[in-house]
Amino acid sequence: MRGRFITFEGGEGVGKSTQILRLADWLRERGRDVVLTREPGGTPRAEQLRRMLLERGDEPMPGSCELLLMFAARATHLDNLVRPALDRGSWVLCDRFTDATYAYQGGGRGVAESHIDALAAIVHGGFEPDLTVLLDAPVETGMARAHQRNGGQGPDRFETEQHEFFERVRATYLARARRYRSRVRVVEAGGTVEAVEAAVRRLVEPMLEADR
Ligand code: TMP
Repeated sequence: MRGRFITFEGGEGVGKSTQILRLADWLRERGRDVVLTREPGGTPRAEQLRRMLLERGDEPMPGSCELLLMFAARATHLDNLVRPALDRGSWVLCDRFTDATYAYQGGGRGVAESHIDALAAIVHGGFEPDLTVLLDAPVETGMARAHQRNGGQGPDRFETEQHEFFERVRATYLARARRYRSRVRVVEAGGTVEAVEAAVRRLVEPMLEADR
């Protein structure tokens, strides 16, 4: 049986990594083979592209360059990791996917949605996640957590953006959740780790039952 593709989305510091790890453990306890991955990244070439995307450097990066690199990373990640894993029957849990491009490059940077649609059609056609968990929290909450987590490392190219950028990112994510309500499910990320974990499980449980 083909596996399942579950993506996690949300602004900075909403707790995606923690929740992905917890869901992976829970699915493994239920006998599923789980592959954990992320975007941009997930394969050696896509991780190289991730470094190019996140490092600040001296040369300004035009929005079109950022958009194309995101989809370049996505193309190799899908072909070399995601699709083969799904074909083997694994459950693929991915930290961000194309909804992030609509939120960050579309909402955040102002890239036209039609341009993102065109690249999404080239790179993955009608292929979509089976479920997208959108962890939602006020921008201030997430930013505070993200800064703590960074420690001495300093912000990456996205984390240097201003508050309004992240408000647009959040608004775009929420608009997508309203538009694609059966796929994109909002989980309020301000609660305890356990409460969020339970809410995520409630979304995934029906998918496990459908396998029986
Ligand atoms: P991460 O810090 O959540 O791993 O993600 C790296 C950054 O990349 C994050 O600030 C969001 C950004 N991003 C985009 O701007 N567009 C995309 O399509 C993806 C997948 C990530």
